[in-house]
Amino acid sequence: MSSASEQVISGLEGVLACESSVAFIDGTIPELSYRGYNIHDIAETLTYEQVVYLLWNGELPSADQLRSFNADLAARRGLPSVVIDLLRLMPSSAHPMAGLRTAVSLLGTLDPQADDNNPTDLRRKAADLTAKMPTIVAAQARLQMGQAAIEPDASLSLAANYYYMLTGKQPDATITRTIDTSLLLYAEHETNASTFTCRAVVGTESDFYSAVVAGIGAIKGPLHGGAIDEVMKMFLEIDQPERAAAYIDQALAARRKVAGFGHRVYRAGDARAPHLRTMAQRLAESAGERKWFTIATTVEQRMREAKGIIANVDYYAAPVLYYLGFPLALFTNFVASARISGWSAHIFEQYANNRLIRPRALYTGHRGRQLPAGYR
Ligand SMILES: CC(C)(COP(=O)(O)OP(=O)(O)OC[C@H]1O[C@@H](n2cnc3c(N)ncnc32)[C@H](O)[C@@H]1OP(=O)(O)O)[C@@H](O)C(=O)NCCC(=O)NCCS
Repeated sequence: MSSASEQVISGLEGVLACESSVAFIDGTIPELSYRGYNIHDIAETLTYEQVVYLLWNGELPSADQLRSFNADLAARRGLPSVVIDLLRLMPSSAHPMAGLRTAVSLLGTLDPQADDNNPTDLRRKAADLTAKMPTIVAAQARLQMGQAAIEPDASLSLAANYYYMLTGKQPDATITRTIDTSLLLYAEHETNASTFTCRAVVGTESDFYSAVVAGIGAIKGPLHGGAIDEVMKMFLEIDQPERAAAYIDQALAARRKVAGFGHRVYRAGDARAPHLRTMAQRLAESAGERKWFTIATTVEQRMREAKGIIANVDYYAAPVLYYLGFPLALFTNFVASARISGWSAHIFEQYANNRLIRPRALYTGHRGRQLPAGYR
């Protein structure tokens, strides 16, 4: 290693780290598909549960398969009381993603088969966390508001139950569809930083929970899933649409990255963003409060004029969650509670065809040094 001819690929950009048949992205079009189905068809037609089944099995479920899959997920939503106790004990200063990470880790300690990595146990763990992570996030939201956590309702879909556990109210069809679509748009995105992290953990033959805990740690960062919180904080700081352009000009003059813009793979637009934009607009209209949507479109236009940079998935997802009444501090937790399904699909793949992931570094430090006299 470290000969002059060898070069580091900064940020591993463009490096093919593994084979995968879960999702395909062509950032130049832009195109995104899950198991060969275009995201635009998926976003308009499927439920989140159908998408999870597709990601894990490679095929869409039959009516019978979906019925039993839905029933299995619904039966797994409840949390052991010790998890609620843990969330209650968590200092209010702790980052909500640290709370989610710790709760998932605790669930791992409660699973006697935590270290069994056979396909059946992996499926069970994936179903368990896909069902339970929304319950954890909703409980975090309730506790943060000084209210008791709400028990899941197994008669509701995952999306409808998510809203019910947050608010205590049954959502109408529009709200349910908005949450469903947001979940499925966040479900999977090829070898992004958190998915790669999960695969790297599995590469050592460590366990499912360790991989997911590491994935949560990776998606928390503001360059990844954590960007969604930063987007909404920016809109709140701008506060008035007429201040948006000047705010962006100042940010760019100070060479600050603007949250919700840019993407390592998509250069011509994020395939998921138009769906979130449409949903944000609909919610703004039905709420009779267009301010956040107008700020968003004004900022987007200014970024296009000034830098030609695209709005990514997090950009319009932020106002969508805000209009839905989702607590801002938990936006990234929502993202993680959806991405668990995609992480799981990649974890299955990695275990099924594993090789230790162990890259090298181009060494740039000293060599051949002698210990100074006093240290010998
Ligand atoms: C996502 C992200 C990390 C991708 O980074 P990357 O692939 O390393 O892209 P680069 O940092 O090489 O950016 C290329 C150029 O676009 C600029 N750029 C990229 N994202 C930008 C942003 N959000 N705001 C302003 N400029 C941005 C860079 O400054 C750079 O410009 P330069 O060539 O004049 O220096 C980056 O776009 C970013 O930080 N975005 C904000 C965080 C975010 O929304 N993350 C969620 C992604 S889904």
